[in-house]
Amino acid sequence: MRKILVTGALGQIGQELVPALRDRYGAANIVASDIRSLPAGEENADDMFEVLDCTKAQQVEDVVDRHDIGCVYHLAALLSATAEDKPQAAWRLNMDSLYLMLEVARQFDCALFFPSSIGAFGPTTPRNETPQDTIQRPTTMYGVTKVAGELLCDYYAKRFGVDARGLRFPGLISYVAPPGGGTTDYSVEIFYQAIRDRRYTCPLKPDTRLDMMYMPDAIRAMIELMEADPSDLTHRNAFNVTAMNVTPEELATEICKHMPDFVIDYDIDPVRQAIADSWPRAMDDSAARSEWHWAPRYDLSAMTSDMLEKLSAKLKPAK
Ligand code: SER
Repeated sequence: MRKILVTGALGQIGQELVPALRDRYGAANIVASDIRSLPAGEENADDMFEVLDCTKAQQVEDVVDRHDIGCVYHLAALLSATAEDKPQAAWRLNMDSLYLMLEVARQFDCALFFPSSIGAFGPTTPRNETPQDTIQRPTTMYGVTKVAGELLCDYYAKRFGVDARGLRFPGLISYVAPPGGGTTDYSVEIFYQAIRDRRYTCPLKPDTRLDMMYMPDAIRAMIELMEADPSDLTHRNAFNVTAMNVTPEELATEICKHMPDFVIDYDIDPVRQAIADSWPRAMDDSAARSEWHWAPRYDLSAMTSDMLEKLSAKLKPAK
């Protein structure tokens, strides 16, 4: 098989996607890449890793050509809160790199996975049962890059036949790698703080409802979408997918079932709150369910039990 390239491999999704792809297709077929080098001690002779700045055309072309890449999971991007802080850098990274990846996919006949987001919606979008096809007028730079990315992927698929596919991810919860600079980061931080201190100060209001998903479901969704028969896909580049929708208060209540002494309080971050208030509360993911049989396995209760168990083991001091 032609190889698979993952960009942003040291990020929150990449750190779990790369091992899952190596398990599924064999380590010899997966090339991980990131703008950062692999941390010392994590090198493995069987695993391929490239330091890659995906805003540099020459570097991208070189890696794709040299490794005979046939599919790219393009994960390198800035998340919503960081993008609001640095909108120019967010446009450069999120858009320039996607454009280059699509151009390389066109020239080298590669498939491409693009992660869109609930951030692709805005305050004029219906917030409950948010339809697959609806108003998309986001008010954040992150959202602007996600809508533009969805459209650019659609354009390359239609105009040049590039096999581009993508998902609108909700907040992703995982115990492996922390997210950085997202509006939904609270849903991961709360677990670290619960285990360490039995207390968490949340930057979003208690009733801020947002879609969420546990990382094992997200990894499976990406792989299942990329393996789906293309003739089944109408919404190639922007499938709504969700597994649960929760508020900070509900997540804290669920954690309390395992840790009765856990306490949550609130210190609202106005930037993150404004972003969250412009996003859907609950997406309708029926297009993904019907076109490629998407079905999540983790609800709030199953995710919370697994997160607490796995993260407690990870944070346990070495003896
Ligand atoms: N988790 C992302 C963020 O908060 C949403 O796609 O930015």
